[in-house]
Parts: sequence; C-alpha cells; structure tokens
Amino acid sequence: MLTTLLTQIENNICTITINRPDKLNALNKTVITELSTAIDEVYSNSEIKSAIITGAGPKAFVAGADISEFLQLTSAQGEELSRRGQQMVFDKIEKSPKPIVAAVNGFALGGGCELALSCHFIYASENAKFGQPEVNLGLIPGYGGTQRLTQLIGRNRSMELLMTGNMLSAQEAMTYGIVNKIVTADELVSKTKETLQLIQSKAPLAIKAVIECVNNFDHTQQGYDFEIKKFGECFATEDLKEGASAFLEKRKANFKGK
Ligand code: COA
Repeated sequence: MLTTLLTQIENNICTITINRPDKLNALNKTVITELSTAIDEVYSNSEIKSAIITGAGPKAFVAGADISEFLQLTSAQGEELSRRGQQMVFDKIEKSPKPIVAAVNGFALGGGCELALSCHFIYASENAKFGQPEVNLGLIPGYGGTQRLTQLIGRNRSMELLMTGNMLSAQEAMTYGIVNKIVTADELVSKTKETLQLIQSKAPLAIKAVIECVNNFDHTQQGYDFEIKKFGECFATEDLKEGASAFLEKRKANFKGK
C-alpha cells in the first residue's frame, strides 16, 4: 500500500504522481522507498509499456529532498542517503528498459530537478521552474545532479546553476536543452501521454536498445562499438522481421516485444 504516491495504469502507461502537495512533494525516505517499488513495477509488469512521473497539486513537481531529514545526519549517513537514493530510484529510472518521462508541473528543485533529469526526457508546464539550490543549505546535489546536468547542458552552464542556485523558467530550461516541450498545466499529462502512445506503437526491444545506447553515450569508439552490438542484436528479434515485412507489405506492423 503506497502512502505518498498515486499510481494509475491507463492505455499501458503508468502515471506515478508524488502526492505530498502540502510539502511541495518533497522526497522523504518514504517517497524514495515507494518510488523504488513503483519503478520496480514498471520494470516487471507486462501491462506497463511506459511511465510518467509527475507531482500532485498546482505548485510543484518536487521541491527537493526533504530538508527536515537533514539536520541529524552524520557524514556517513549523508553518503548512505545519496547512495541508496541513486541506486533505488535515480539510476533505476535512467536504466529502465521502458520509457519514463517527467511531466514537470511547477518547482523541480534539488532532488526534484535530479528526478526529472534521471527520466528519459522532460515535458514541462508553463509555470515549471528548475534549479539546484543545495548550496543555499551548505550542500551539493546528491542524486546525480552534478553529473546529469553537466552532461545535458555542458560544464559552464552547469557550474553557474550549481554555484548560484538560481532557478530557470520553463522557457530558459528549454533553451538550455533540459525541457523538450512546454504546454499548459492542464494539458501536461495528456500531451505527455500522446507522445508515449506514439513510442508504444514502435518495437519495444528497439526502444529498449535506444535507451541503452543513449545511456552508453561515449565520445570514444566504445560508444560506437556498443551501438554496433545492439544493432546486431535487433536482427535476432521477431519484431525486426515483423517491422521490415510490414513495411514491404505496406501494412502496419504488429510488434510483440519479442
Ligand atoms: N523539504 C521539506 N519541506 C519542504 C521543502 C523541502 N525541500 N520544500 C518545501 N517544503 C515545505 C515547506 O517547509 C512548507 O511546509 P509548511 O507549510 O509545513 O511550513 C511547504 O512545503 C510549502 O513551502 P513554502 O516554502 O511555504 O512555499 P513557498 O511558495 O513560499 O516557496 C519554494 C516555494 C519551493 C521556493 C520553497 O519551498 C523552497 O525554497 N523549498 C526548498 C527548495 C530546496 O532548497 N530544495 C533543495 C533541497 S536539497
């Protein structure tokens, strides 16, 4: 029984809503544990083909890790909080074989920004705001923020955001390449679902291979070698035979994910 999340499966899309609106959906230990369970379900439930992560209420996606849990922590406990969160949630989202998209409806700060960054891409409402304000607390991001943000927007922009703690508007975040699309708050989940329906019509094992290859992005030959291997693996799937035959027979492909 989940107490801090709402989950709903519709048209094979699992919508995971973080539901602590009175605390701006801050990530406490329970939310992290329950998110881990919800992501495991995305991995294992064959009815689920993709997922959306969003926040309850009009104000916030997630306003960060729960600051009220910070005061008592020792250095070792802080390290454990970060490691546990990264393993249980953030890395698992990034490596999910099924697409997981963030629908950011308001503040995405600290761990909230990191949660969105760990998703495969981000759609945002017009009132979305992104930032890593940890330096205001004497902290740095601990859920992969220094790494994923730098990879996404580059060293200098990342340095400035992480050192100032400034927030970006949805429009600025789109200019930076953080956000793919901005829509009204009312349309946010439905527009995200539209894109996921499109992705769900493609070959699932090819989608999984895309995620693996992009996650393995590397400037060196290693990245190309990984792609070559994954490309080859596609030829062992029934879906490739179905997709290529459907094209040649001028009909719609019926993919089985096999
Ligand atoms: N952790 C714990 N509680 C949080 C929180 C967080 N990260 N962010 C917001 N809240 C709580 C507030 O304490 C407040 O609770 P209360 O009503 O019991 O006092 C409630 O959520 C509403 O937040 P409030 O600050 O009153 O809203 P606001 O509209 O004035 O400001 C923010 C919104 C997002 C600018 C502000 O809440 C904020 O700066 N939050 C912290 C962001 C942050 O530093 N995140 C990184 C954490 S590592």
